Amino acid sequence: MKIISFLLWHASFLLLAFFNNGVIIHALPYDYSATTECLKEPWKVQYGGGIIQNPEFNNGTAKWTVFRQGKIQERITRNGNKFIAASNRTHPSDGLSQRVFLVKGKLYAFSAWIQISQGSEIIAVKFRSQSGGGDYLHGGTVIAEQGCWSMLKGGVVANLSGLVDLTFETNNTSVEVWIDNVSLQPFTAKEWRFHQETTIAKVRKRKVKFQVTNKLDAKITLKQTQADFPIGCEMNLNVLNNTKYRDWFIASKFSVTTFANEMKWYFTEKKTQGNENYTIPDAMLQFCEQNNIAVRGHNIIWDDPNHQPTWFSSKINPEELRKLVEKRLTSVVPRYKGRLIHWDVVNENLHFSFYEDKLGENASAEIYGRAHELDEKPILFMNEYSTIEVSKDVAAKPANYARKLNNIVSYYMERNGGKMLPMGIGLQSRFAPGQPNFAYMRAGLDYLASLGFPIWLTEVFVDAGENQAKYLDEVLREGYAHPGVKGIVIWPTSPFSKECKMCLIDVNQNFKSTPTGDVVNKLISELRNSKEMEISADEQGLFEAVLPLGDYEVSLRNPETISCNNKLKIKVTENSDNFVHVKLDHTSCVK
Ligand SMILES: *[C@@H]1O[C@H](CO)[C@@H](O)[C@H](O)[C@H]1NC(C)=O
Ligand SMILES: *[C@@H]1O[C@H](CO)[C@@H](O)[C@H](O)[C@H]1NC(C)=O
Ligand SMILES: *[C@@H]1O[C@H](CO)[C@@H](O)[C@H](O)[C@H]1NC(C)=O
Ligand SMILES: *[C@@H]1O[C@H](CO)[C@@H](O)[C@H](O)[C@H]1NC(C)=O
Ligand SMILES: *[C@@H]1O[C@H](CO)[C@@H](O)[C@H](O)[C@H]1NC(C)=O
Ligand SMILES: *[C@@H]1O[C@H](CO)[C@@H](O)[C@H](O)[C@H]1NC(C)=O
Ligand SMILES: *[C@@H]1O[C@H](CO)[C@@H](O)[C@H](O)[C@H]1NC(C)=O
Ligand SMILES: *[C@@H]1O[C@H](CO)[C@@H](O)[C@H](O)[C@H]1NC(C)=O
Ligand SMILES: *[C@@H]1O[C@H](CO)[C@@H](O)[C@H](O)[C@H]1NC(C)=O
Repeated sequence: MKIISFLLWHASFLLLAFFNNGVIIHALPYDYSATTECLKEPWKVQYGGGIIQNPEFNNGTAKWTVFRQGKIQERITRNGNKFIAASNRTHPSDGLSQRVFLVKGKLYAFSAWIQISQGSEIIAVKFRSQSGGGDYLHGGTVIAEQGCWSMLKGGVVANLSGLVDLTFETNNTSVEVWIDNVSLQPFTAKEWRFHQETTIAKVRKRKVKFQVTNKLDAKITLKQTQADFPIGCEMNLNVLNNTKYRDWFIASKFSVTTFANEMKWYFTEKKTQGNENYTIPDAMLQFCEQNNIAVRGHNIIWDDPNHQPTWFSSKINPEELRKLVEKRLTSVVPRYKGRLIHWDVVNENLHFSFYEDKLGENASAEIYGRAHELDEKPILFMNEYSTIEVSKDVAAKPANYARKLNNIVSYYMERNGGKMLPMGIGLQSRFAPGQPNFAYMRAGLDYLASLGFPIWLTEVFVDAGENQAKYLDEVLREGYAHPGVKGIVIWPTSPFSKECKMCLIDVNQNFKSTPTGDVVNKLISELRNSKEMEISADEQGLFEAVLPLGDYEVSLRNPETISCNNKLKIKVTENSDNFVHVKLDHTSCVK
């Protein structure tokens, strides 16, 4: 009898050093903590303030100055906590400031706690260069309120070495800005990658131990049959008639997809009202089901006025529109009931408000609730661009995202006895050319992850430019390495389009992979671990492997055995940290 024992445990990593070419580098762990809530009792300063001097204002205003105009004063709360109030400001950026030295190429994680004396205002953190050109790096924003402290979490990648002024900007100069526990922590690119590796080891992988008790020289072969982390790619209708495109899609091992346009309202109901035709999305969904590719439904409604069905009249009145929305919902949602993992319900409802403008401020909330009534299975996503990729974006900044999502959730709860909507956070992740601001990206993910809903990067794209493939690789790895991110869909340019900004394949070169395509292939093969691994036991019959979460086939090969076809199926999951005992029946192996 052959006995294999599986021991799976949750390795709790708190590494402070890593090896790099034999040199030990000490890396400060990354602090993922963040909150979207406005707190009465806020948290202590992150990283002890990093390079900020007197970050908690325990020494009054020492090391701090006034930027341009205004007054800064030390204040003390009832329980003795010191903070700074900036008042008598004239310009938006007037107020508290500290001069800091940035090093080009380093990533700076920023956080601060902010309160205002009255009302509710947007506060932005800006790093102003001394060059005189008025250049600045935008580090992020928060909506600060009266009576409680809000966390501004953001960051910058320095594109220069030199002194900059850390400033806080708010357009309403009549309010006092209160600030406490300011932190700016630099990391090198190497340290940043180390954080990723640490997190990947912690949340995406588990160490698996095998034990053979009576056949110490046996070998175990491991093969991943299904990866846990979904990584996929958008597809378009060419998949139906272009064999090469179809074959490429299957060979790429994408486990999830989104249709480019084919489920959108303007596509399924073309030219005239009532002219519904689902032939194409039906066939695409069937193709996906036959090939075990999960589908994110995209999208029920699009809030952008420029992407409505062509037959919408400009004079459409709210009553008519409400009926049309209900008809759209009862047409597309039940049609695909139970077959989609997600729905992007009201697409881009932070940048746009076509439906809110016409149907009222709760239009999105109503539509999410209705979609859930019609199909309980899909996770209902918001889906926005610029939230984590553009630190100066005003409409879709993380604080606005959290606010809108909370509105949708609470609207439903109020009307459904406190029942929770299965919401998801869709972040398109469409990066402009040039160095992405990874410090800001990670901070945005931290902030939104604190809401507790699954985050997906839904349309990952890096525009053409220098280092495009490298940046795409880094964006994908940053996403994969964030504990809040539960899946990634890449949104390349269609290989059939005239201008290939980010095509993964080149149709003119026999569908050969492009540099960005190579990045995707490499990442997937790395995550998939799809190659068979053979491992041998030590003298005690113990085997060990660190495996990405997923399903595996395990086979045991006894050197004296000619064939041993019996395969054991195991699931390596986040929670498989207990001792698993498995017995293999000896009769299944032929001597
Ligand atoms: C700042 O940190 C201290 C602990 O060091 C804490 O007592 C205080 O509440 C914090 N204040 C704010 C506004 O974050
Ligand atoms: C507080 O700041 C003053 C002025 O910069 C300095 O002389 C003093 O040493 C500081 N005290 C502490 C405890 O940091
Ligand atoms: C407020 O600022 C103005 C100039 O901007 C100055 O004249 C005035 O004295 C300041 N008031 C206080 C209370 O500091
Ligand atoms: C500025 O804030 C004050 C206090 O909340 C408010 O009364 C005022 O309307 C605000 N001004 C603007 C332009 O928003
Ligand atoms: C750094 O980036 C800022 C913001 O994009 C820009 O204004 C500035 O010109 C850049 N500076 C350098 C030295 O590239
Ligand atoms: C201040 O107003 C300008 C112009 O409307 C806007 O671009 C900027 O984002 C605002 N700043 C903040 C911090 O809200
Ligand atoms: C496939 O169908 C699409 C849409 O009808 C069309 O644009 C494309 O040319 C077709 N491709 C091939 C290879 O037939
Ligand atoms: C529906 O669309 C398909 C694919 O474009 C087309 O072949 C078919 O004729 C359409 N059906 C109707 C009734 O228009
Ligand atoms: C929107 O919903 C909120 C929360 O239920 C409610 O207080 C508000 O009155 C609604 N607005 C409208 C215009 O119905």
